[in-house]
Amino acid sequence: MAKMSFTYGLSLFFMSVIPGAWRRTAAGAGLLADDGTVAPTIFAEMSAAAARTGAINLGQGFPDEDGPAEVLEAARAAISAGANQYPPGRGLPDLLAAISEHQSRFYGLTVDPEREVIVTAGATEALTAALLALIDGPDDEVVVFEPYYDSYAAAVALAGARLVTVPLRAPDFQPDADRLAAAVTDRTRVILVNDPHNPTGAVFGREILAEIVRLADRHDAIIVTDEVYEHLSFSAPHTPIATLPGAASRTLTISSAGKTFSTTGWKIGWVHGPAPLITAVLTVKQYLTYVNGAPFQPAVAVGLRLDDRYFTEASETLARKHEVLGAGLRAAGFEVHVPQGGYFTVADASPLGGRDAAAFCRALPERAGVVAIPLSAFTSAHHRADYAGLVRFAACKRIEVLEEAAARLATGFGDRSSQRGRTA
Ligand SMILES: Cc1ncc(COP(=O)(O)O)c(C=O)c1O
Repeated sequence: MAKMSFTYGLSLFFMSVIPGAWRRTAAGAGLLADDGTVAPTIFAEMSAAAARTGAINLGQGFPDEDGPAEVLEAARAAISAGANQYPPGRGLPDLLAAISEHQSRFYGLTVDPEREVIVTAGATEALTAALLALIDGPDDEVVVFEPYYDSYAAAVALAGARLVTVPLRAPDFQPDADRLAAAVTDRTRVILVNDPHNPTGAVFGREILAEIVRLADRHDAIIVTDEVYEHLSFSAPHTPIATLPGAASRTLTISSAGKTFSTTGWKIGWVHGPAPLITAVLTVKQYLTYVNGAPFQPAVAVGLRLDDRYFTEASETLARKHEVLGAGLRAAGFEVHVPQGGYFTVADASPLGGRDAAAFCRALPERAGVVAIPLSAFTSAHHRADYAGLVRFAACKRIEVLEEAAARLATGFGDRSSQRGRTA
């Protein structure tokens, strides 16, 4: 049989004749062209541009510093001690216990480590497994807040359901309660929440969280909540939606070690919720990956048991990085939307002639030596225009890298703060 090539651009003939769920997945992610070709994601395109031009990559959200030494050391020790074979399907018992302790310590949630939590290949697998487990046909709907983390639309499409979006609009990116109420119906199987929110940096107010719970209850929907930035909320401590009255019995809470311990490459995540929902997710998860990262699991258990100080400092450090990034963006002429949580700052490039943020971001590496992602990468095709001038910058980089990015932007666009200084 002839060897098939799936290289982007060379695969037109083969791709256009291959049936399967990949098509709706690619279409859901906005990557399928009319001629059947599949585009690379904007993240791959922009990372390639960074490598080609030597630009500072503020596109993808991964830290450029190692996480806590004791966590890294625990992984090395686990490998040396022989933790190199399949761990138990639900996860290492000590990590399950550490997740349960963490939820109790920070949020007062009671989680049975044996029945109500499983370890997954990052939050991404937890999300996809939950959607595949809970969705039962093309009439099912999943309500998401738009813009949304890119895997949501792809996974909803793979599961064969319909995506219903609730817009988050600048300046504060909080959902409108009426739009939310109109989106949730008896067809809603899942309300998918992400709080703190990527890409906008919004932290949902308690009232909107309560409204989500009320609507889920009224329409018998499951809440799936992605809380990977739980320890990176700047203005107030994070409120897991599962802590609201009436929520825990219908909520799957997802998180991950990647953001909290700067170990995004380890892909250790988890999901907890009522035992019947966890059984449903585990049923799917065990045939996706079966188990994950044996030596990383004890290391993440060490991380979850670190002193409160570690978690407070992680949030304070990132908030400082956002300040440096935001000051640089403002000085270059962007209008900055100050984030309340998470890795990203959103800025409006319209004052710099960047009303088409996608074109603006494609030109940015050459123009200023910086890579960023247009918000249109996180929206459905028919809502792109609503976010046209907005650009997402990752703040999870060393301060000196952010300062260098700020200097490059100032050079590329002219430093507005010093110009103001000169004319004043
Ligand atoms: C909102 C959100 N959810 C999930 C993920 C993926 O998490 P993981 O790497 O643990 O799969 C990310 C990573 O950027 C994210 O921003």
